[in-house]
Amino acid sequence: MVKIRRAEVADAPVLAAAEAKIAETPGYMVSSPNEITSDAFAAKIAELSQHPRGIYIIALLDDKIVGHAMLAPMSLSALSHVVRLNIFVYPGFQRQGIGQTIMDYLLTWAKQTPGVEKVELLVRATNKPAIALYKKIGFFEEGKFKKRLKLPDGSYIDDLAMALFVN
Ligand SMILES: CC(C)(COP(=O)(O)OP(=O)(O)OC[C@H]1O[C@@H](n2cnc3c(N)ncnc32)[C@H](O)[C@@H]1OP(=O)(O)O)[C@@H](O)C(=O)NCCC(=O)NCCS
Repeated sequence: MVKIRRAEVADAPVLAAAEAKIAETPGYMVSSPNEITSDAFAAKIAELSQHPRGIYIIALLDDKIVGHAMLAPMSLSALSHVVRLNIFVYPGFQRQGIGQTIMDYLLTWAKQTPGVEKVELLVRATNKPAIALYKKIGFFEEGKFKKRLKLPDGSYIDDLAMALFVN
């Protein structure tokens, strides 16, 4: 049974290592493995733990971290009703309902959190599992950033902008 809890600064090295592993396969993430640092994760977890409209969570299976996700608020006042989603279920644990459990938790939190109205995300247009998950939940496409990622082999990938209104 998957458990969800708030991420703690001490979790940062595990989260960074997992994202670096996922980033080894070009076409999923914007960051390259060498651009992912434990310090940046620690800073983001600390920042969101203090923010009333932000949340950083981890998913645990038998006390092992198998996924993480965040809703990160925007800093400008005109954008303060918007949060940005990131979600990762680690290789070996995908397709077992963990992504759905994480999204249910985050969206319940978003609906109950004063001031949060819109969840936005960017997803690689080639990332069929993630797009299927978002569409199943009700996210809609807002537009496309053409050739937004340039891969090491010189090819390009578009990004889709997707969103969901929660309040
Ligand atoms: C996208 C991701 C979060 C999905 O998590 P998951 O735990 O594997 O997803 P779940 O098992 O909860 O599946 C929920 C739904 O997502 C969709 N889905 C998930 N994996 C899929 C796949 N390989 N193919 C098609 N649909 C898929 C389905 O709609 C599924 O519902 P269903 O089981 O009723 O068909 C996971 O694949 C992942 O972390 N990928 C790498 C990182 C990433 O791409 N993050 C998103 C960046 S924008």
